[in-house]
Amino acid sequence: MSELRKATERSSEQELIWVDEMAEIYNNCSISLPEKLVNPSLFMRRQELSYLLADYEIFKLVQNIKGSVFYFGVYHGAGFMTFANLAAALEPYNHTREIIGFDTFTGYPSITQEDKTHGKQFQTLTEGGFYSDSLELLNNIIYLYDRNRPLNHINKTSLIKGDLCITLPEYLEKNQHTLVSLVVLTVNLYEPTKTALSLLWPRIPKGGVIVIHSLNEEYYPGATKALLEVVGADYSIQTYPFAPNLAYVVK
Ligand SMILES: C[S@@+](CC[C@H](N)C(=O)[O-])C[C@H]1O[C@@H](n2cnc3c(N)ncnc32)[C@H](O)[C@@H]1O
Repeated sequence: MSELRKATERSSEQELIWVDEMAEIYNNCSISLPEKLVNPSLFMRRQELSYLLADYEIFKLVQNIKGSVFYFGVYHGAGFMTFANLAAALEPYNHTREIIGFDTFTGYPSITQEDKTHGKQFQTLTEGGFYSDSLELLNNIIYLYDRNRPLNHINKTSLIKGDLCITLPEYLEKNQHTLVSLVVLTVNLYEPTKTALSLLWPRIPKGGVIVIHSLNEEYYPGATKALLEVVGADYSIQTYPFAPNLAYVVK
């Protein structure tokens, strides 16, 4: 089973074949690689476009809210770099908002009882699931990202490696000035979701936003449990009909 097949267990066979066929076209067409890179919508699926649009809508919600963006579950780095690029494009002179990404870069560190289901389970729900050793690649990409934005003498992004249940409290201990305008939780698991929400909720000003992926998802019960325990259901839990795996709460 290919890596993509494991990571997209909600996808149909036809959708996966579509990706293989587009990969074939991408590899074999006569357009040069630099031209392909600057024409990404040529090869993009509507699914990826939908989530880019949803991230754009989310970023607009917090543009006037003070605080950094905390992104949990970097994986290859696509979602993390979306927010880094949105910040560079939409508020190039806001030098006080950092985009901070957390990941083990070795996949899921452990799965607890709260993440277990009574029926079918995603194959990714295992120790080491969603493994991506992307830290060095991302540092190279961020080096180029920095060269293409104003105020690039001021750091905009940080990537923090390790289990966030350990690294986030350490980060906050060292950075007591931290305010949080946006939390993006894509780890899908109970313990890291609960740790991040418990530690960051008090640092989110009114109007700040929490984004969580995989809520109300029978194969990943942990994220929903953690949100209900820390934030509760008195807040409106909203979504975009075009990006249904993304939910958000405005504080
Ligand atoms: C579903 S993937 C995230 C997908 C990603 N947001 C994207 O843009 O494609 C889940 C990620 O969460 C990370 N993760 C899970 N538990 C973690 C923990 N306790 N600490 C740090 N990272 C964790 C995994 O290593 C994995 O990269």
